[in-house]
Amino acid sequence: MSKSRLITLEGSEGAGKTTALKAICKILDKWQIEYICTREPGGEPTAEKIREILLNSDHLHAKTELLLMFASRNEHIENVIKPALESGKWVVSDRYVDASYAYQGGGRELGFETVKWMDEFIVGKTQADYTILMDIDPQVGLERIKIRGQADRIEQESLPFFYRIAKAYRRKAKIDAHKYTVIDASKSILKVSQAIEQAMDEQKEKLL
Ligand SMILES: Nc1ncnc2c1ncn2[C@@H]1O[C@H](COP(=O)(O)OP(=O)(O)OP(=O)(O)O)[C@@H](O)[C@H]1O
Ligand SMILES: [Mg+2]
Repeated sequence: MSKSRLITLEGSEGAGKTTALKAICKILDKWQIEYICTREPGGEPTAEKIREILLNSDHLHAKTELLLMFASRNEHIENVIKPALESGKWVVSDRYVDASYAYQGGGRELGFETVKWMDEFIVGKTQADYTILMDIDPQVGLERIKIRGQADRIEQESLPFFYRIAKAYRRKAKIDAHKYTVIDASKSILKVSQAIEQAMDEQKEKLL
């Protein structure tokens, strides 16, 4: 039996992560893999409550945001991700720890070192086996999600914040180049799905 794998999707607002998730699931179905799909922040009841605080508080200090992100992630890892992996299922997560490098490390300017320290403490060995970064000009992504109505606390941030996030994501993708694929997410949904399918097929031997 193949080893259970943790696949994560990253990218800034409206990059197309949730859309890409469907493409990944289609491929895993084709490979006849048993898997669960989950998301961050959230993925289980307590973590979803923390998500509400993260997205809907009037104000949060950057360090509070970092701690809450990792608090919710710890619940997610212990209650959902680890049990699934241990039972032989694969896990596909719509965002994971690299979102903290991007949002708190880059966006909030807490730096990679601070996030790395939390990463080692909370995530430890439960690292993603493979990550797809949906790379997009933040302005294009924000434009895509405008029609959703009321923007949450993060979506209301200024453009420079989102450019710092995009830059930090690219930096993390370079650091972890051996397990990252960067997708040009500005292309059409069809083209993006095809690119994901190709990337997954290229990883197949490594993952299975
Ligand atoms: N390649 C694409 N081209 C045009 N529109 C897209 C593309 N991918 C997704 N969309 C649309 O953009 C919107 C945002 O997509 P999606 O929800 O997948 O992004 P997301 O990265 O998950 O966003 P969020 O950060 O808010 O979770 C949706 O309406 C979706 O249909
Ligand atoms: Mg989404």
